[in-house]
Amino acid sequence: MFNGTYYIETYGCQMNEHDSEKMAAMLEDLGMAQVWSAEDADVVVINTCSIREKAEHKVYSALGKLKHLKRKNPGMVIAVAGCVAQQGKSGLLAKIRHLDAVVGTHRIGELPEIVRRVQQRGERIEASDFSPDVASLHIPAPRKGRSPVCSYVTIMQGCSNFCSYCVVPYTRGPEQSRPLQEVVVEVEALANSGVREVTLLGQNVNAYGKDLGDGTSFVRLLDELDGVPGLSRIRFTTSHPKDFSEALAERMASLGSVCEHIHLPLQSGSDRVLLAMGRGYTRARYIEKIETLRRKVPGAAITADIIVGFPGETEEDFNQTMLALEEIRFDQIFSFKFSQRPGTRARNLPDQVPDEEKSARLAKVHELQDRITLEYHRDAEGSVYEILIEGIKHESGQVFGRTRTNKIVNVSLSDSVRTGDLTRVKITKGLKHSLFGEFV
Ligand code: SAH
Ligand code: SF4
Ligand code: F3S
Repeated sequence: MFNGTYYIETYGCQMNEHDSEKMAAMLEDLGMAQVWSAEDADVVVINTCSIREKAEHKVYSALGKLKHLKRKNPGMVIAVAGCVAQQGKSGLLAKIRHLDAVVGTHRIGELPEIVRRVQQRGERIEASDFSPDVASLHIPAPRKGRSPVCSYVTIMQGCSNFCSYCVVPYTRGPEQSRPLQEVVVEVEALANSGVREVTLLGQNVNAYGKDLGDGTSFVRLLDELDGVPGLSRIRFTTSHPKDFSEALAERMASLGSVCEHIHLPLQSGSDRVLLAMGRGYTRARYIEKIETLRRKVPGAAITADIIVGFPGETEEDFNQTMLALEEIRFDQIFSFKFSQRPGTRARNLPDQVPDEEKSARLAKVHELQDRITLEYHRDAEGSVYEILIEGIKHESGQVFGRTRTNKIVNVSLSDSVRTGDLTRVKITKGLKHSLFGEFV
């Protein structure tokens, strides 16, 4: 066993955050201690995202900053993990001379061994082949996760959809589901150690189990997890609209622990653009699914992702997106300017939209959605919600938690409240990004 310190910097989605938690746990098993700055670290891991060009740029600038640290401390190990590592492979080692290791998305389980080889033998290592059975999929969620009462649980890895704009199928490989029993055992163990809420993670959780070929499905998994003692809440992300089923809406209504929130990325309101994106649904079909959900689960929160400026998106197509946002009234959206990504079909499509136009459209989407979100938050004033207390902000004298519909609520600190409590809170003020409430 060797000691020392490690620092992990994480970009990207929850999948990456959770991978970082797993890598942290592996390094701690080696006896290493976490530090919060690269300067104090013997091992630095940059866990990267490549979803848009901007995300990738951030990685190169983070790596650039490490160059002089490595010069001062040649024994420092610098590793790149995540989606940029997966795409860049050995090219990264060639391009970035102060980099010691490239750890692909299927290979994070090998991090301790990789660190050892760099430290002891001075090797430069590339580990980025895909594997038909990703070992890291089976690494249990560590207990030192993002919160003592909430945990991520990976249920699948990869994506087989190949939307025309997206790098994920290339950076994470094809869909691979984790065996149902393994997920159940992990969730039971987490609940046993005090976790009250799990978020099931996958790029397309509605496809969970399809690759296992034994009849396992996402709704069956929810059925199994609903009875786990001590577990109050189950969340999941992300759902793909083409695989969203009535059965899932029924589970959201009938299973007590499954929360009434779904993240269901629409991407565009124009059928022409949806077709070019390869999404597999039309706007009407999407709206039908939402109507089913709202009928079966009254009050369900729906959030989505939107891309503006997909190649060939005309003013008229964009207006269709704006109209869809008005009609559907999402609780919240994440919106992005289309970014040309290496290896994807949309990268080389004609009629790329100029950046100023993309920015103008994005601003319009923001303005519209900010108004809708604020209206939801104002409407919530006076209502009482169940909140899971996730933590205490001592600086501001507040505790914070979420409603089952995933809205953040801040409440003035009360002596009788502990992290992990399920409490009832009356909303007193609806703000742009959060709600403020008082205990009832
Ligand atoms: N698996 C999830 C999304 C993962 S990526 C799903 O299918 O919904 C998260 C979001 O990033 C996507 O929903 C999309 O809105 C956005 N995104 C992906 N590729 C992009 C690109 N090339 N340019 C801009 N946004 C992109
Ligand atoms: Fe990307 Fe589409 Fe897969 Fe989502 S479903 S990860 S957008 S390819
Ligand atoms: Fe980014 Fe990879 Fe997640 S590209 S969004 S870190 S799957």
